[in-house]
Amino acid sequence: MTNRLMRLRQSQWMRDLLAETEFNQRQLIQPLFVVEGLSRDEEILGLGETKRNTEESILQRVEKDLEAGVRHFLLFHVPKAKAECAFHHEAAQRVIQKLKSHFGDQLFLWIDTCLCSMTSHGHCGVLRSSQTTSNPFDSSRTLNEISRAALAYVEAGADGVSPSDMMDGRVKHIRALLDEKGYDMKPIMSYSTKFSSHFYGPFRNAANSTPQFGDRQQYQIDVRSSTDALNSSQRCAEEGADLLMVKPGMSSIDLIKPIAQKCHLPVGAYQVSGEYAGLQMLSEKGLVHFEKALLETWHVFKRAGAQYIITYGARESRKLGLR
Ligand code: PBG
Repeated sequence: MTNRLMRLRQSQWMRDLLAETEFNQRQLIQPLFVVEGLSRDEEILGLGETKRNTEESILQRVEKDLEAGVRHFLLFHVPKAKAECAFHHEAAQRVIQKLKSHFGDQLFLWIDTCLCSMTSHGHCGVLRSSQTTSNPFDSSRTLNEISRAALAYVEAGADGVSPSDMMDGRVKHIRALLDEKGYDMKPIMSYSTKFSSHFYGPFRNAANSTPQFGDRQQYQIDVRSSTDALNSSQRCAEEGADLLMVKPGMSSIDLIKPIAQKCHLPVGAYQVSGEYAGLQMLSEKGLVHFEKALLETWHVFKRAGAQYIITYGARESRKLGLR
C-alpha cells in the first residue's frame, strides 16, 4: 500500500520540496586522462566521451567541460616510459602547468597520485629487490616516490592531490612533505576505502596499469570486510587526509555514513569505470535510458551520504538538469 506522502509526491512541487538529496555540479568531479607521446585521442571502451587525450587535445576537452559547468577535475597522467623507481614527473607537470595557466581558477585540478601507471610491473609501489618478507614493497622508497610525485604536482600548480596507491603511511608522508615545502593549504583527497575490485577494467586499459603479475589484493580491501574498510579510512583520517573517498561507489554504499561518523570528515564516492561502462553498455543495448539511469545512481550516492561524486559523467550533468 502506498502511503499519503508517496501519493503527494506525484506533484512535482512536493517531490522537490521533500527530496532528501540535492546537489549541484560543483559536487561532481570529472576524471581526465592525458597520455604522454600520444599523437591523437584514443577511445576508452565503455567510457564514452572520456578518452585518452593528447597533451594538446586536453585543452579543448577541458574548455568544453567548463562550458558544460564542470568545475572539479581529477587528472590521471599516463607517462610514456615505465621504470622501477626514480620516476620523472616533467611530463605530468607540463600538463598541469598548461591547464592551470590556461584556465586558472575556473577549475580545481586534483591529480591522482599513484605509481601504477609509471612502474614497469603495474603495481602501485616500488618492489623490494629480493622478495624475502611478506611485504613485497620497499616501503620507504615507495613513500618517498609517492610524496615526490605529489610535491612535483603541486609545484606545477595542482590544486590538490589524490593518493590512490593504498600503501601504508602515504597520506602522512605526503602531508609532511607538502607542509615542509610551504604547501600546507593543498588538500589531500585520499582514496581511503578502496576495495580490490573487478570494476576497474576500463580504467586499467586507459591508464596502462594492469599488473603484469599477481593482483592488488595485498593492498586493496576484500569486499567482504567492512572492518578493514572502516579502519582504512580511519587511518587516512588520522594521517591527515582532508577528504575521504570510497571506491567503487556501489560496493561501498553502506559504508559512507559510518565512515563519516567515525572520522568526522567529508566522504565522497567514486563511481568507477566499470560501473559507468555498465550503464553505457546497457543503454547501447536499449535496456536503460543512459542519462536517467546515471542521475538515479548519483541520487543514491547522495542519499547514502556522499558529499561529492567522482564520475565519468560529470560533463553530462547539465543535460541531467543539474546547475
Ligand atoms: C590507480 C587507480 C585505479 C583507479 C583509480 N586510480 C585502478 C586500480 O587501483 O587498479 C580506478 C578508477 C576506475 O576504475 O575508474 N591505483
